[in-house]
Amino acid sequence: MKPIARTITFAAIVTVAVVGFIALKSVGSSAPVNALRPSDPTVLAAGQRIYAERCASCHGAQLEGQPDWQSRGADDLLPAPPHDATGHTWHHRDELLFRITKFGMAKAINMPDYKSSMPIYEGVLSDEEIVAVLSWIKSRWPTSVRAKHDQFNAQP
Ligand code: HEC
Repeated sequence: MKPIARTITFAAIVTVAVVGFIALKSVGSSAPVNALRPSDPTVLAAGQRIYAERCASCHGAQLEGQPDWQSRGADDLLPAPPHDATGHTWHHRDELLFRITKFGMAKAINMPDYKSSMPIYEGVLSDEEIVAVLSWIKSRWPTSVRAKHDQFNAQP
């Protein structure tokens, strides 16, 4: 091979490698930042602890929610809904669940006047802790419900 041909071949190989690397990186970084990780044992251990400490008092130790959760109480606020398969938590994509937990209902649904007993966890739980507790909740859903939730997340 002539030196010039060798240089061109080498340049071509480097180009392919660099383009491939960039393409792979951009695929990797397109995974949503706050995606739930219901199959990661370390995440789930943290999530279970956080749930017991921070969420169970309202949403129930077994994720069962408060009684008659679909009717507003005397204070005109909704009781805490279940997080198990009987509730509607699993109808919401990862990002909305994250936003509800971090920023509260009013901000998450973009209705500034919406009044809710759901606390705001910004400044209380880190983003990783929010992902952990929501991942633990998801890990408790039956396989079929988890699969449907995966489908919601995959929709554009
Ligand atoms: C003081 C009681 C209380 C605590 C503690 C609480 N929540 Fe809630 N949560 C609520 C109420 C009430 C609602 C329903 C809000 C509404 O629609 O007005 C709710 C709603 C939610 C929703 C939306 C569910 C849906 O189907 O739309 C998510 C997600 C949620 N909570 C997550 C959490 C997590 C995670 C924790 C613990 C880190 C937590 N909550 C702690 C009272 C609470």
